[in-house]
Amino acid sequence: MDITFKDVSYIYQANSPFAHKALENLSFHIPSGSFVAVIGHTGSGKSTLIQHLNGLITPTKGIVQIGDYQLNAEKKPENLKELRSRVGVVFQYPEHQLFDETVAKDIAFGPKNFGISETEIQRRIKEIVPAVGLDEKLLDRSPFDLSGGQMRRVAIAGVLAVKPEILVLDEPTAGLDPRGQREIMDMFSSLHKEQKLTTVLVTHSMEDAVKYADHVIIMNKGTKYMEGTPEEVFTQREALNQVQLDVPEMIQFMKAFEGRFGHAITFKRQSIPSLAKEIRQALKGAESLE
Ligand SMILES: Nc1ncnc2c1ncn2[C@@H]1O[C@H](COP(=O)(O)OP(=O)(O)O)[C@@H](O)[C@H]1O
Ligand SMILES: [Mg+2]
Repeated sequence: MDITFKDVSYIYQANSPFAHKALENLSFHIPSGSFVAVIGHTGSGKSTLIQHLNGLITPTKGIVQIGDYQLNAEKKPENLKELRSRVGVVFQYPEHQLFDETVAKDIAFGPKNFGISETEIQRRIKEIVPAVGLDEKLLDRSPFDLSGGQMRRVAIAGVLAVKPEILVLDEPTAGLDPRGQREIMDMFSSLHKEQKLTTVLVTHSMEDAVKYADHVIIMNKGTKYMEGTPEEVFTQREALNQVQLDVPEMIQFMKAFEGRFGHAITFKRQSIPSLAKEIRQALKGAESLE
């Protein structure tokens, strides 16, 4: 399903002395099957944006269109539950929402709620548990006996067990150790590639955005500050610095290399081995001129 925001504004506690504008005239289009990174400082409106995607909140002004479902100030779609089964949201610190006696029951909660049969749920659990990097032996344990990283995986498994078409991730690796971060991001990346799952990733990590996303939206103070491919966005160092964001390390390195050796390497999301090859070529060329 495509996602379109058209002139969306959102005000918390509108018409009260505490009214706070969190989004202002936000427009963008995410084609089905994309992997989009939404980046911006704390308070820039990222979480408010994604709460529109499954109708937790509706725009104060403007239109949110997700496939055939439309949300605007006047109405939520009548089939909101159906929308929520098609748009899975992994909220920040999702492990805080675990509550059931066992890991298996916690994972089953979402799909059960959407009317999926017990046999089908069991089949999905068998498939998803190893995919999120959990041991099947943990299924009968209490989720509260697990480590933080394992609890995070249980919560993610619960969202995946509903088999959404759009997966929304709000800083899914926050607080995990570097290895856990990489494992979880690689898992989302393969889900996206193998199942064509449209993925919306809210992140602070430029490195993750470069590595996984094909489209980037930079938020600043509730508005869209920049948008484009990682190549388009991350090469604009000045503009990013203006909103206190850095370009990814790889691009910083390329700039430093150019400054030192006078050889420009174009950023095209190359892998580290292919960057190394380009550097060798460049240095060889320089040598043969001497
Ligand atoms: N429930 C709320 N009530 C009032 N203001 C809120 C609420 N949630 C967020 N805000 C405010 O809206 C703005 C955007 O917040 P948020 O979408 O959470 O940003 P981000 O996820 O980028 O950190 C911030 O200024 C924040 O303080
Ligand atoms: Mg947030």
